[in-house]
Amino acid sequence: MTTTNFPTFVKTWTPRINSYLKEHLASEIDTLQLSKIMAYSVMAGGKRLRPLLFLATRQALNLPLDEAALRAACGIEFIHTYSLIHDDLPEMDNSDLRRGQLTSHKKWGTAQAVLAGDGLLPLGLEWIATGTQSAKAIAIMTDAIGPNGMVGGQYLDIDATNNQETANDRDLIERMEWRKTGCLLLACVEMPLAEVKIEPALQADLLTFARSFGRAYQIYDDLVDVLETSQEAGKETQLDEADGKNNTLTQLGVAASRKRINQLIQQGQASLHGDYPVLSGFFEILKRVLA
Ligand code: IPE
Ligand code: IPE
Ligand code: MG
Ligand code: MG
Ligand code: MG
Repeated sequence: MTTTNFPTFVKTWTPRINSYLKEHLASEIDTLQLSKIMAYSVMAGGKRLRPLLFLATRQALNLPLDEAALRAACGIEFIHTYSLIHDDLPEMDNSDLRRGQLTSHKKWGTAQAVLAGDGLLPLGLEWIATGTQSAKAIAIMTDAIGPNGMVGGQYLDIDATNNQETANDRDLIERMEWRKTGCLLLACVEMPLAEVKIEPALQADLLTFARSFGRAYQIYDDLVDVLETSQEAGKETQLDEADGKNNTLTQLGVAASRKRINQLIQQGQASLHGDYPVLSGFFEILKRVLA
């Protein structure tokens, strides 16, 4: 079914993503307790932003939204959830709350949480491989989440934590935030694009959209940390300052961070030329932290 606006698309596809995850996560892992620990974090909710972005891009490109596409989309969610489980560990951000419940390590223990994340990463790649049947998609994803992508960004994040030398380094913080969060969101658009032959100008526009959204998303997330209660956010907030994090928000402050998000929204919307209402709807999420 083709939907033409963002709320309808989210309402239609979120339950389908959740059902596929629920059914197949349990049936494809034979160690019952490990499967339970992985499902604990995956099924706790979450906006399913990355699978939705992948599916919405496929729809925009007239690619089928069939079971194979759904499987690949859910694989992306596994990889994202792995990154959250590891991000929350005591040795990383040390957070007790995620998606409205205790973090994996608080509930099951650190070794169990590390292994649940370790299990979700290859399973996610396998689902993307079987769902897309595309070596290119796997190359895009491994680039996006490896040492030059998300893991690299997470390393820079840890390196910049409680580090006065890097506190004012704008380039470093830009690179860190892009890599840890932007790269994976961009990959959700790049993977469908790799399957089609389209005008270079249209391809460039869709990539500009994805880069603007991906870049804005971490600034949004850092604003959530200072503006919302833990209950509103479903995860521990007021944590970044306590952790000694350096980010765009600590460097520029609330007003300038909001301004930057607004600029990125305008840039991303302009690149869509009003042609893709579902894709442009993703920017609505960011408005939650704008005055
Ligand atoms: C949070 O991601 C972590 C970041 C990369 C900023 P989301 O805001 O998408 O978290 P969920 O998936 O909805 O829980
Ligand atoms: C997380 O950034 C980025 C990744 C998990 C890759 P944050 O540490 O700011 O995310 P939250 O606030 O814990 O969700
Ligand atoms: Mg972090
Ligand atoms: Mg964190
Ligand atoms: Mg955060």
